[in-house]
Amino acid sequence: MGAGVFSPYAKRIENPKKRWSAFLDLVKRRGQRYALCTLDNFDFKSRDSKRKLGVLDELRSFSANMPERIANGSGLVLLGPPGTGKDHLLMACMRDAILMHGFTVSWHDGLELFQQVKAAIARDGTEKFFKQLYSPQILALSDPVPPRDELTAYELSILRNVIEKRYSSGLSTWITTNVQNYDEARKLFTSAVLDRLLHGALELFFGWESYRTRTEAKSCATATN
Ligand SMILES: Nc1ncnc2c1ncn2[C@@H]1O[C@H](COP(=O)(O)OP(=O)(O)OP(=O)(O)O)[C@@H](O)[C@H]1O
Ligand SMILES: [Mg+2]
Repeated sequence: MGAGVFSPYAKRIENPKKRWSAFLDLVKRRGQRYALCTLDNFDFKSRDSKRKLGVLDELRSFSANMPERIANGSGLVLLGPPGTGKDHLLMACMRDAILMHGFTVSWHDGLELFQQVKAAIARDGTEKFFKQLYSPQILALSDPVPPRDELTAYELSILRNVIEKRYSSGLSTWITTNVQNYDEARKLFTSAVLDRLLHGALELFFGWESYRTRTEAKSCATATN
């Protein structure tokens, strides 16, 4: 059993209005495109439906069992090529985490995060900045790797420190990353970072074609209108 059960952050948001307010804050940060993304409106009926359904089933079970998973500090690692719906399903899980379970969730775009860290260092505000990465029950990072590139030693050390601190505290970290296969992910993150992320985590590979090219950038928000 992980340290998360004993964490001071184990307290959940009980008030439904406060849950909605936390969810709307998340939507403001994440953007309208992802506002209505749910596990139910993930389209699996086209090609590769069996693989897509497999991933959806895993995430439905992950969502239903979130309290136990979060208490154990287990993470979520969504890997795969661009446009395959990793961030759609990450948002769906963040939605369930807040609205169904009342967990505190902080989402960051990975690359923006590195820029924010640099800005915090410049204004000598790193303590406050890092605190907000260590305090939420769930920290979700989308694509903390430059496309077709590697992390600099500095970026990797920031990522490693954040992951290590949360891992040691038994706090859950969720991540999406654009890679063609698992070996590529291991090379990008170095095994020490990925090992911590993967310890007890649900790891899913999205091995199908991009939804963007298939639907000419139709978002789930517009799809439901
Ligand atoms: N199976 C799907 N059903 C409905 N909408 C989808 C599906 N897959 C992707 N989308 C939509 O396509 C857009 C792109 O998907 P998303 O951002 O989740 O891809 P991604 O795998 O994170 O890509 P990248 O690696 O480039 O960041 C989003 O608007 C998302 O809601
Ligand atoms: Mg993405």
